[in-house]
Amino acid sequence: MDQVVCEFREEGTTLPLFIKPKNGQDSAEFIIQWIGENKELLRQKILEYGAVMFRGFKIDKGVEFERAMQQFEPELSKDYHGTSPRKQLPGTEYVFTASELPRFFPIPQHIEMSFLAAPPRNIFFCCLDEPVGPGGETTLCDFKKVYEDIDPAVRQKFEEKEVMIVRNYRKGWTVFTDPTQLKGWPEIYDTDKKEEVEEHCRKSFQDFTWMKNDGLKLVNQRAAFENHPETGDRIWFNHLQTFHWYMISDEFYRIYKRMGLFKYLLLSWFAWFLKMILFIFIGPMNCGFHTCYGDGTEIPDAVNKHVRDVTWKNMVFNRWKKGDMIMIDNYRISHGRQPYSGKRLIVVSWSKPYLRPSLREKNE
Ligand SMILES: [Fe+2]
Repeated sequence: MDQVVCEFREEGTTLPLFIKPKNGQDSAEFIIQWIGENKELLRQKILEYGAVMFRGFKIDKGVEFERAMQQFEPELSKDYHGTSPRKQLPGTEYVFTASELPRFFPIPQHIEMSFLAAPPRNIFFCCLDEPVGPGGETTLCDFKKVYEDIDPAVRQKFEEKEVMIVRNYRKGWTVFTDPTQLKGWPEIYDTDKKEEVEEHCRKSFQDFTWMKNDGLKLVNQRAAFENHPETGDRIWFNHLQTFHWYMISDEFYRIYKRMGLFKYLLLSWFAWFLKMILFIFIGPMNCGFHTCYGDGTEIPDAVNKHVRDVTWKNMVFNRWKKGDMIMIDNYRISHGRQPYSGKRLIVVSWSKPYLRPSLREKNE
């Protein structure tokens, strides 16, 4: 660590730990080699603080980011069964755009692919073009703190009932007719053959049902919490903040209020109106995504609000700078995206799937 500087953004914050150049050693080649030589130390730092951000190094190509992350994690993964539309970065094998969702669309805090049986152990982002206007942060939140801050009675209910994540995919991307439809199932599974999709669902412990017009309903009942694989800490570990229809209006409202974009508050009211229409005419279980308790009962709005209050209290807003690379412990730290306008290019890579400890225990 004597070849680099380690510091925090400001006093009292430890998420993330920043690693910066020392004595002018800021080349891409230097930091790529340094990561390879210090991976055990990095692992300890990620375990201690949840995330490590490299800032001030001359990383400006996706391929440099890929090489840097492969020094830490030689086996990256290409499997992505989440909902964000992504594009592979030309010239790389394991680097993708973080999300092709429209810029105004907020992405609430989530553990990457937490609804799956085996989400990636770590996730990595890199900024190739920093946002120039307001917004565009990849917000972080310590879901260990979220677990600790949630009212014990609320926690107890989730402990007993678990959560049910429902996703409905169509064959095509129809976000303009239903804003909860972000992409179609052929894009998720990279095939339009139903047998191949079924095979994948069986292997990955997902209940699936084919619906009319080639629709696919995926239902995952999962524990709401996980024990961290190394520290054993209890972690809030589910997609409620992202996959509940309550988020469409509530998240918009909080974001635009924080940014002082009051004219856009109208958008959140419009979203609330839209939400009511979806509720009445489609029903939450038939929307693109929904989360309820594991027994199929609805999670009350007050509980949703409480979880979101606790999440927002612990969220960290960190402005991207070109060349930033961040390594995140995906079994503890969630990420999200604030809306933005103008140019911004954030890319992502992730490690191999890691079976959730709760399922590991069940299978043993
Ligand atoms: Fe994500």
